[in-house]
Amino acid sequence: MSSPIRLPYFDVLLKLLDQGDPALEQAFGRHVHWGYWPEPRQAKRTPEDFARAAEALSRLVYQAAGVGDGMRVLDAGCGFGGTVASLNNGCSNVHLVGLNIDPRQLDRAHQRITPRTGNTLAWIQADACVLPFKDASFDAVLAVECIFHFPSRAGFFKEAWRVLKPGGRLALSDFVPVSGLLPIIRLTESWSATLGFYGHCDVHCTLADYHRLAAATGFMVSHARDITAGTLPTYAFLRTLARQMKIPNPSAVPETLLLEWTSRLSVLRYRVLGFEKPAQGGCD
Ligand SMILES: C[S@@+](CC[C@H](N)C(=O)[O-])C[C@H]1O[C@@H](n2cnc3c(N)ncnc32)[C@H](O)[C@@H]1O
Repeated sequence: MSSPIRLPYFDVLLKLLDQGDPALEQAFGRHVHWGYWPEPRQAKRTPEDFARAAEALSRLVYQAAGVGDGMRVLDAGCGFGGTVASLNNGCSNVHLVGLNIDPRQLDRAHQRITPRTGNTLAWIQADACVLPFKDASFDAVLAVECIFHFPSRAGFFKEAWRVLKPGGRLALSDFVPVSGLLPIIRLTESWSATLGFYGHCDVHCTLADYHRLAAATGFMVSHARDITAGTLPTYAFLRTLARQMKIPNPSAVPETLLLEWTSRLSVLRYRVLGFEKPAQGGCD
């Protein structure tokens, strides 16, 4: 079994959720990712509004994978199972697998999410780069805002390709830099990985790198949407939330500000990407 990695922000989140904070429960008790507002100007800084926006972001990712009734879907890096819960509510006769390296998150998901009649759910502890599934066992693989934590994007792409059926799709969301931002990212990353709030994050993969990765693995790029503008209200909400609770890690504020300003300056883009395994041929 893979050794669980501990991400500092999840340690804080799990502790605060255990203390029963209702605002945090509503905002991050289900989805642990940024929100998406189709009309960002109408965003309100409330936990209810944020939860709606987080649900909307998940939906964009699984729509990019074309998920529908009757499918077998793997959600890699599933967090507390928010995307699995959303698919369980909206789809019929689906087999949904939430996979995470951190068993504490899987326990929470398992306790809170019950399969609807006709659906089956499984929670698996594993590393997304070493998937414990047979070849061609899923119609869709998802990775919502988590690929930057994985040990290797190339390793994950290879595994996603292997476990997808021909014609199946991988969809993910990620913070994608323009190449001019890479020197600044390199300057900050060793500090972030050791002292940071978000833990190990590899945000080096540009859109051109994603195209190369897809080609090298055998995927066709089927979807590439820039939703940065629709995610920006996340930052105002996080500031409101942080004022209400004590975050013990002093890096949380500067790291989040760096994400916010690089996004506002359009050098870090929030993208939803989709990749299709051709029905015939491709790499093995
Ligand atoms: C920002 S959270 C996103 C969680 C979830 N996808 C969501 O959107 O709510 C990142 C997730 O990636 C998971 N993770 C990190 N490294 C992983 C790995 N190597 N294999 C599987 N999951 C991993 C973390 O435990 C965490 O649940």
